[in-house]
Amino acid sequence: MIDLKAYLKERAARINQALDEYLPAENEEPATLHKAMRYSVMAGGKRIRPVLMMAACEAVGGRAEAVIPAACAMEMIHTYSLIHDDLPAMDDDDYRRGRLTCHKVFGEAMAILAGDALLTEAFVLLSAPGVFADLPAERVIQVTHIIASAAGSRGMVGGQAVDIESEGKKITPEVLHYLHTHKTGALILASLQAGALIGGASDRAFSDMTRYGEAVGLAFQVADDILDVVGDEKELGKKTGVDATHGKATYPALFGLDEARKRAALLRDESIAALESFGEEAEALRLIADYVVKRTS
Ligand code: IPE
Ligand code: IPE
Ligand code: MG
Ligand code: MG
Ligand code: MG
Repeated sequence: MIDLKAYLKERAARINQALDEYLPAENEEPATLHKAMRYSVMAGGKRIRPVLMMAACEAVGGRAEAVIPAACAMEMIHTYSLIHDDLPAMDDDDYRRGRLTCHKVFGEAMAILAGDALLTEAFVLLSAPGVFADLPAERVIQVTHIIASAAGSRGMVGGQAVDIESEGKKITPEVLHYLHTHKTGALILASLQAGALIGGASDRAFSDMTRYGEAVGLAFQVADDILDVVGDEKELGKKTGVDATHGKATYPALFGLDEARKRAALLRDESIAALESFGEEAEALRLIADYVVKRTS
């Protein structure tokens, strides 16, 4: 039996240690930029995307250790997306991961640059000679392509664009679905697909993992929306109630809180069902699907 709390903590600690090694040192010039990057990355955060990548790799029979560089690259991309998401031109948030947002401490220009640099460093890491010593080069390119596509205009950035354009508007459930599956679902799905590929998944396992990832990725953002309404600011490390203030397109806004909760639970069931062909080795993924909808932070 997996103790999920201990499991998540141990996995996050492994990622934190690797991130610390991969990120440029604080005193390396340009020091302000490197400080700003580290400030946001090392502020904590659940590291759920890296954890999912490790768990997906293990579920198909691989070693969690093999995904560490790709998992750190994913966390750098995710953190960049948060730094930019918090900027005054976007969600204009003052708190993130329990501390002031990057632009509040380093100024807007430096926060934009820290995000740019984190996005770029992710691909420096993915393409660094020797980091995936045990993987065929073709596989590394495939993983890089999946991560790059998920981050770009047909993935996370595309979702963010529609999120901004939808502010204060009445949108259809289809647009809301697009927005959530892209701004948040894309990086979560790509984490699982990358983990499966690095672990040497069969075509069948990859496609099951994709179905799991689509459902769990959407569930994650529905839960994020719900937490903005009912969550605790201290626990979340960010301000709540801001979606309503900004007229954001969310599941609770469109469907109501009860219906949003029901949909999150259905997505959890759907994601667990997608893992039917897996045995014990996918237990962590099943537990994480449940955690995603029940989490309080
Ligand atoms: C917050 O992501 C933004 C979304 C995409 C919903 P997380 O809830 O994973 O934030 P951290 O990484 O734990 O801070
Ligand atoms: C964030 O969505 C999505 C990305 C950062 C890509 P939100 O704007 O809802 O995330 P929070 O609530 O600020 O963490
Ligand atoms: Mg946002
Ligand atoms: Mg936001
Ligand atoms: Mg949110």
